Amino acid sequence: MALWGGRFEGGVDAFTQEFGASLEEDKVLAHQDIAGSKAHAKMLGQQGVISQEDAQAIREGLDEIDARITAGTFVWDVNDEDVHMAVEGELTRAIGTAGARLHTGRSRNDQVATDIRLWAKDQCEKLMNQNLALRQVLIQKAEDHFDVVMPGYTHLQHAQPVLFSHHMLAYYWMFTRDYARLKYAYMAADVNPLGSAALAGTTYPLDRFATTQELGFKAPSHNSLDAVSDRDYLLDLEYACSVSMMHLSRLCEELILWSSTEFGFITMSDSFSTGSSIMPQKKNPDFAELIRGKVGRVYGDLTQLLVTMKGLPLAYNKDLQECKVGAIDAAKTLYDCMYCMEGMIATMSLHEDVMLAQSAAGFTAATDVADYLAKRGIPFRVAHEVVGNTVLYCEKAGKGLEDLSLEELKRAAAEVSQEAADLYEADIASALDPSSIARARNTYGGTGHDAVAQQLQEAKDALAKDAGSVSSGRIGEC
Ligand code: ARG
Repeated sequence: MALWGGRFEGGVDAFTQEFGASLEEDKVLAHQDIAGSKAHAKMLGQQGVISQEDAQAIREGLDEIDARITAGTFVWDVNDEDVHMAVEGELTRAIGTAGARLHTGRSRNDQVATDIRLWAKDQCEKLMNQNLALRQVLIQKAEDHFDVVMPGYTHLQHAQPVLFSHHMLAYYWMFTRDYARLKYAYMAADVNPLGSAALAGTTYPLDRFATTQELGFKAPSHNSLDAVSDRDYLLDLEYACSVSMMHLSRLCEELILWSSTEFGFITMSDSFSTGSSIMPQKKNPDFAELIRGKVGRVYGDLTQLLVTMKGLPLAYNKDLQECKVGAIDAAKTLYDCMYCMEGMIATMSLHEDVMLAQSAAGFTAATDVADYLAKRGIPFRVAHEVVGNTVLYCEKAGKGLEDLSLEELKRAAAEVSQEAADLYEADIASALDPSSIARARNTYGGTGHDAVAQQLQEAKDALAKDAGSVSSGRIGEC
């Protein structure tokens, strides 16, 4: 009989029993469920709601069940509706009456909310650690290939040369913001709903501050109705996962492009590539594609939760049972994808010569040639027109800007402005060299050599600061 079976006369319909169950998805919450029950029992004993002996027996019984679950020897009974029923039922079978006292002053409504919050905090911490590992690898890659020049793009058209390290660090900062979002989700989850009971609190003299401390929560929730029906912290977690997946997907898209024959910038290592069953030559970036593909399910998880929550009246409704699966899926997916990305970045090899050659193609020096003229007194708009006209000349002649002789440059400029044409001198060569161009953009946050060196240091500092907050267990303090 179900633990709520007292007021029922008819048996449970086999279909609805299975339909209403959440045991399969709940199992991941088993350790949290046991931790919550142990804290509740200890507090009940301390408050004299149950005897100290019963509290002790409950805690020992729960430890024994926990050990069996960890060892994989716990037998889950499919007839149990959820993990809470499964654990409590087994406890009572094992220790008798004391076990039947555990649920005093508690409901599965505050119990499940406590479990999910403990689980969410755990997940955030795990994800934050993996986020740090990924960021470390991006810093390493940027450092290992600090001076490599590649084309920078807008509209996926060659725009201006940039340092590869600058490109890697752009992703580093995206993931740094993701860390902050995960940290926020951690803090949102760090509230103790235990003691809210079904919806209204309870007449037993529960010490909610004691369970808060025992379970490592920052504070007890303020309102029992809100506490049992709030899943905002899962939305925060799923949003953090969604944004981070989006960043991973953007990086994947670039890795996929870069490893194509057309780009030829990188080769992915064998361990992160697959072959074709029919085309012997193929080496496909499957895992980058898979990460890109998995973004959809994480967005789906977030959307599902938003829709599930919409329109729910206070307080607990069974709809809330549907909140867990998506969060579990989103957290696992992000973790796996970050782990995979860390490996892909660490092991990919760069074709620096191709990157450099491509960084000159597509007239990427045009802005710098216009700047050369503007710095010598030509209004920028006029300089822009002069160089635009020179690019047109190059296209017709099938040449790059860097292929033009000084004479040709002057001749093309003179068609628009004789004054500009007269300004070109031999030092224009450095305005045409992609490495010199990339090195020179030293505005703070720019791609110049000195600016990126400074950025790299700032990235390392930010990483050390974030790593410090996880390892010291002080995530909630900001
Ligand atoms: N399995 C339920 C869930 O996940 C636990 C809470 C059930 N509470 C209830 N009143 N039916 O939400």
